[in-house]
Amino acid sequence: MGHWDVNSGTGTVKTIAIASDHAGYALKAEIAGFLEEGGFSVLDLGTDGPDSVDYPDFADALVQALADNRAGRGILICGTGIGISIAANRHRHIRAAHCHDTTDARLARQHNDANVIALGARTLGLEVARDCVAVFLETAFEGDSNPRHARRIARMS
Ligand code: RB5
Repeated sequence: MGHWDVNSGTGTVKTIAIASDHAGYALKAEIAGFLEEGGFSVLDLGTDGPDSVDYPDFADALVQALADNRAGRGILICGTGIGISIAANRHRHIRAAHCHDTTDARLARQHNDANVIALGARTLGLEVARDCVAVFLETAFEGDSNPRHARRIARMS
């Protein structure tokens, strides 16, 4: 994978925050390596091993990193992607999309301007997870050409 031209809607995203619970940490390491190969800076917010942790803590760390502009977008991983996306979406500035395939990832960007992708390490294979991340980072929001998408996003902010 070469360097990605990432359109965040507000400029080029160079730093990607990533966090997981224990169920997701192995996939997190794979995805972090994939991002670095693609030319991104990776802000890894843990967890760093298989010891049991609570996914809301890692969702909160990533949410705060985006709020502080320490990263432009985020990747969250737990066993299913469900708990960690629920935790992240409790925050108004977060639009975390729980994605199972590249169609989810593409539409999450085009229609929802998702700033976080949530993946399930126990439900996705590595190749699917990497493809989802690539599409999530490469796809632009369609708010300029379809104002209805921008209007709906604005109502959630
Ligand atoms: C951890 O066992 C698991 O519950 C967690 O990773 C996640 O799948 C929750 O939604």
